[in-house]
Amino acid sequence: MPIFYGKASLMDYLKSIKTIHSTLGFVPTMGALHQGHLALMQKSLAENTNTVVSIFVNPTQFNNPEDLAKYPRTLEEDVKKLTDLDPNIILYAPSVADIYDGQPVSQSFDFDGLENPMEGKFRPGHFNGVGTVVKRLFEIVEPTHAYFGEKDFQQLQIVKKMVAKNNLKVVIISCPIYREANNLAMSSRNERLSAQERDKAAVIYQILTSVKAKFPTNSAAKISEWVQKFLKKNPQFTLEYFTIADEATLTSCNRKNKNKKYRAFIAVLVNNIRLIDTISLN
Ligand code: PAF
Repeated sequence: MPIFYGKASLMDYLKSIKTIHSTLGFVPTMGALHQGHLALMQKSLAENTNTVVSIFVNPTQFNNPEDLAKYPRTLEEDVKKLTDLDPNIILYAPSVADIYDGQPVSQSFDFDGLENPMEGKFRPGHFNGVGTVVKRLFEIVEPTHAYFGEKDFQQLQIVKKMVAKNNLKVVIISCPIYREANNLAMSSRNERLSAQERDKAAVIYQILTSVKAKFPTNSAAKISEWVQKFLKKNPQFTLEYFTIADEATLTSCNRKNKNKKYRAFIAVLVNNIRLIDTISLN
């Protein structure tokens, strides 16, 4: 499998394999690869001439130094998973200096308010960090198509906005959430959960499916109240936020409008590990 640790050699290589008709799929990741990542890659491999995967734990999107320090780094195992999936995958695993050319700092973006609620509220600066690294990676890789999972739905909307505002020539493709056997959304952070915590975290999806069932006949406020009460019965889980929001603007739903698409978003802390999930409601 071709592996590049520096952007100059990656860019030379990509130039050498590019043809008029070729397409280049791109799956940006922070490593600790799981089945959810591999599904994005499979889609990219099926839809493009070549596929680049990046593994880079981006420091500027972590507002919590402990979260950055504890983020799993498993490059050797990741390389094995990629090789087993398809040895033609092109891996870019840069250093911080290769991406940032100096001190890692974020650019400041205006995402038309998409950045303010939920993750934006609880992780200040997070989306400037995501915007900065994704833009940088797009400039280096120049993909025709880039693949993002719907678990990070707010991130997906923000990346689409960044692409539109900067007139970038890349098609953003969203892919459904991959779940473990107990329906916990797959995430690299799940590796930090104990077996018992992982088991119990099934409650997150149970809440979301109940919310979906309640949505046609209950107000968003009433449902939020129910979620808060329900989680109080599970003291191992601390609710950071629960919101029902308009999919397009991510503004919370006060009165339902039948022309809009709504989604429920949840973030909980288990033993200081943040887990997020989302479900489409209509
Ligand atoms: O979703 C992620 O893993 C990261 O936010 C991304 C898109 C790779 C940027 O660092």
